[in-house]
Amino acid sequence: MPTRESRRHLLCAVCWVLVVIVVLLAVIIYLATKEPDCKDDSSSVTIETTKYGSIDGKQVYRYTFKNKNKIEVSIISYGGIVTNILVPDKNGKVEDIVLGYDSIEGFKSNGPYFGAIIGRYANRIAKGRFSIDGVNYTLAINNPPNSLHGGVKGFDKRVWKSSLKDDKLILKYTSSDKEEGFPGEVITMVTYQLTDNNELIIEYSATTSKKTVINLTNHAYFNLAGQGSGNIFEHKAIIKAEHYTPVDSTSIPTGQLASVSGTMFDLRTAVSLGDRIPKVPGNIGFDINYSFGKTGWMKYGARLLFQQRFWRQQKHTCRPPSINLVFYLEQK
Ligand SMILES: *[C@@H]1O[C@H](CO)[C@@H](O)[C@H](O)[C@H]1NC(C)=O
Ligand SMILES: *[C@@H]1O[C@H](CO)[C@@H](O)[C@H](O)[C@H]1NC(C)=O
Ligand SMILES: *[C@@H]1O[C@H](CO)[C@@H](O)[C@H](O)[C@H]1NC(C)=O
Repeated sequence: MPTRESRRHLLCAVCWVLVVIVVLLAVIIYLATKEPDCKDDSSSVTIETTKYGSIDGKQVYRYTFKNKNKIEVSIISYGGIVTNILVPDKNGKVEDIVLGYDSIEGFKSNGPYFGAIIGRYANRIAKGRFSIDGVNYTLAINNPPNSLHGGVKGFDKRVWKSSLKDDKLILKYTSSDKEEGFPGEVITMVTYQLTDNNELIIEYSATTSKKTVINLTNHAYFNLAGQGSGNIFEHKAIIKAEHYTPVDSTSIPTGQLASVSGTMFDLRTAVSLGDRIPKVPGNIGFDINYSFGKTGWMKYGARLLFQQRFWRQQKHTCRPPSINLVFYLEQK
């Protein structure tokens, strides 16, 4: 199962590529090159449906959204994976700014979780154990000694039921009681919507038949210069968080809330990733859970910028009460 090592291996083809993932609990991704014009609510977005092979004997569909600004977003019904986000730069040159594969074959195993919906539980559950109301539950250990991203066959490796409603793609997956060890039958619905304001809006909801734990997210990796164009050392990042949660050697939070001040993780002002990454201990890049506190989420909480040549930028905001953001960069 995908350990950090095997992910590294998978990504080796692209030498010294540095990949970015910003994981949000409730996500709104703005791919705006300017502030969104919130008054325009007449959508010109089109959605094209095509067949995209099959997995587990089930037909997989691919949905391609296009908006008036020539932004194209493709999502497949396997894992709800965002396979492409095509964005023109200021000169009209179009690049795919998310990492992925060229065909369904690559996405089938997808060790790095490129673009996928993560469930039932994003990130690690220590030793794959938890208890609810005095009952102990044991999960599949796929990231020893912990359970990662929902276990061996998480939501990222399931074929979801898909349909279109108005300008939204609706994905549904029913996870049976005890799937990967989690209690309760959970019916999950994720909707994707592209707007003419260049927002990709992802909404998550779930119902359960028993008390359980759930934490859904999307695991897209971004390179705003275009996937395959090299590392992201020319990107800048801003994360307006004052604290982060330190982890132990197995990436489980120690329970402390530490100040970013004076550490390599301080991104409160724009930081060039090329300057910062080589200084992060362990030479592995960032895998940091930032905490914004109860009131700390600003007008924008985090931005990834790539302005030197292309003027693309990405703005991440989170609706309350979501106040954490995991910033993950892996150095190849
Ligand atoms: C859900 O996952 C995100 C990303 O790993 C993390 O920041 C957040 O703390 C998690 N939420 C809960 C309630 O565990
Ligand atoms: C649940 O696990 C805890 C700690 O691992 C243990 O002390 C407790 O006895 C277990 N409870 C049951 C009902 O097995
Ligand atoms: C992230 O930080 C919050 C505190 O803001 C903490 O409750 C949570 O457990 C942390 N999650 C991870 C995955 O480290």
